[in-house]
Amino acid sequence: MCGIVGYWGRRNAGSILLQAIRNLEYRGYDSVGICTSNGEILAIRKDKGKVEEVNGRHSLHEMTGNIGIAHTRWATTGKVTKKNAHPHTDCTKSIAVVHNGIIENYERIRERLRAKGHAFQSETDTETIAHLLEENIHLGIGQAMISVAKELEGRNAFVALFGNEGVIAGVRKGSPLIVGVGGEEYFVASDIPAFLEHTKKVMYIDDGQMVVINNGIHFFDIDSQKSVEKRIVEIVLDMKQAEKGDYEHFLIKEIMEQKETLFRAINQDEDEIRKFAEEINQAFGVFFIGAGTAGRVGLMGEYIFSKIAKKHVNFVLASEFPSYEHFLTSKTLLIPISQSGETADVMKAVEVAKKKGVKVVSIINVKGSTLDRISDHSFLVNSGIEKSVASTKATTGQLAIVFLLAYACAGRLEEGKRLLIDTASEVNDMLNPRYEAHIKRLAKKIGRRDHIYIIGRGLNYPVALEAAIKITEVSCIHAEGFAGGELKHYSIALISDGVPCIAFVANDETMADMLNNAAEVKARGGYIIGVSPEKHEIFDYWLKVPDVGNTSPIVNIIPGQMLAYHLGLERGMDIDYCRNLAKSVTVL
Ligand code: AGP
Repeated sequence: MCGIVGYWGRRNAGSILLQAIRNLEYRGYDSVGICTSNGEILAIRKDKGKVEEVNGRHSLHEMTGNIGIAHTRWATTGKVTKKNAHPHTDCTKSIAVVHNGIIENYERIRERLRAKGHAFQSETDTETIAHLLEENIHLGIGQAMISVAKELEGRNAFVALFGNEGVIAGVRKGSPLIVGVGGEEYFVASDIPAFLEHTKKVMYIDDGQMVVINNGIHFFDIDSQKSVEKRIVEIVLDMKQAEKGDYEHFLIKEIMEQKETLFRAINQDEDEIRKFAEEINQAFGVFFIGAGTAGRVGLMGEYIFSKIAKKHVNFVLASEFPSYEHFLTSKTLLIPISQSGETADVMKAVEVAKKKGVKVVSIINVKGSTLDRISDHSFLVNSGIEKSVASTKATTGQLAIVFLLAYACAGRLEEGKRLLIDTASEVNDMLNPRYEAHIKRLAKKIGRRDHIYIIGRGLNYPVALEAAIKITEVSCIHAEGFAGGELKHYSIALISDGVPCIAFVANDETMADMLNNAAEVKARGGYIIGVSPEKHEIFDYWLKVPDVGNTSPIVNIIPGQMLAYHLGLERGMDIDYCRNLAKSVTVL
């Protein structure tokens, strides 16, 4: 996934675009570039490295011109090199392009263009867009953009700068793109943080649409080529949410924000919760889908609905959903869970489901995201902008909504809401410096280990899997989650002297078996880290959590998040920009 942005206005584009890609850096950070124009030549400065590194070498903020485009890359096609950094230009160097997505047919296009004499400078699929625009520019900018958009296969969004005409144009075809409307200036970007400090007025671009900006703004449908009217929407977000404030990293800030965000997630429209709980009860086949951490919340949903609502719902990893599509009917209900609302695996599954008449009720954090816009209904987690690649506050918010729906399905919504509010209060109390210091000491103890194993049962088996994701992505320690009952079948072979094993021991029907599992690990030299309301003899290190009953997954997720953070610090990792990862995976 990458961050793309275009600016058209009266002010100096260089410094505006630099700040914009700083605000989009969570979308990709292996190389960056800016192209500006003052109506004559295009100036391009780009290189491999993060925004500040490249700005330090190339003074991006000094670039002149009142229109421009910029890019922060997460490499898909083409290695991480200066040549492969965006923007890319055509042969005449009068058209520049930045792009997010994958062009599945780029090799065929590139061969055809090479045969016509186009010289390619990079290994990227993106560069084909610039040369295609050059091939079609005789049709006029609008038509050229439409012709190119129609030829590209795959999920993409791109923004082009036409230097000779002083025009910015963008296309959305499966990857996010949104317009910001300022005073006599426009922004077009992958995400709102690119321009939030300049304007809260946005115009949403839908998939299959194009925008052309030059002294005004015009939208078109790519297929019909007809003009499309758009209205300005005022968004409710403040820039503070997109900044670290007094925190050293976004990750610890967002972990701590769970003091408030959990309450916000619980505060859903009760009529909506009851309405969709009824739809869940009436549906023939209910599927939670998601990827990564959001997927683990979906798996928790399977256990939560079983335990609380006695309702059989299925969780399927979004990327595995094609194997289940033949089960879908118009009576099926699909519940995608996604922080960004842009994850390609999820979008692909939803598009297939909608074609089969399946109702889609999503649980998301980003209002106006693609998933929000194509769902029949969305429950908003309301966690605010989540910028660290590792998802935390959105995760517990998603989980709270799953609990609300399960309790509503059981006809016990008030009881569930009270329990969740009590749980949110407990989380508020947990997130204190003393608790963090205790976890930091643990991170110092085990921070040099190469492997960490995590076991859980029942509701807390998916919690063990989620803790493994957090520790893996933030610290790059190999962390693996297992069902406690699986230990004797294979994974106990991994245990030897001093190997850390985190055991989730909730005060529920799984407690005795979990303590037995911990004893089996300990007998083979394992170092037992118990996450539990009580201190049990078997624990070498105890991470206390409040006894909250059914909502134990919410409080158990917290120590996993915080331990991941401190393990990442211990190992000197780039905390908010996890190695090789991006905040939202918008390519399959
Ligand atoms: C979470 O910490 C990871 N960064 C990743 O697994 C993430 O949950 C996954 O890519 C899904 O993203 P989404 O919630 O935006 O769909």
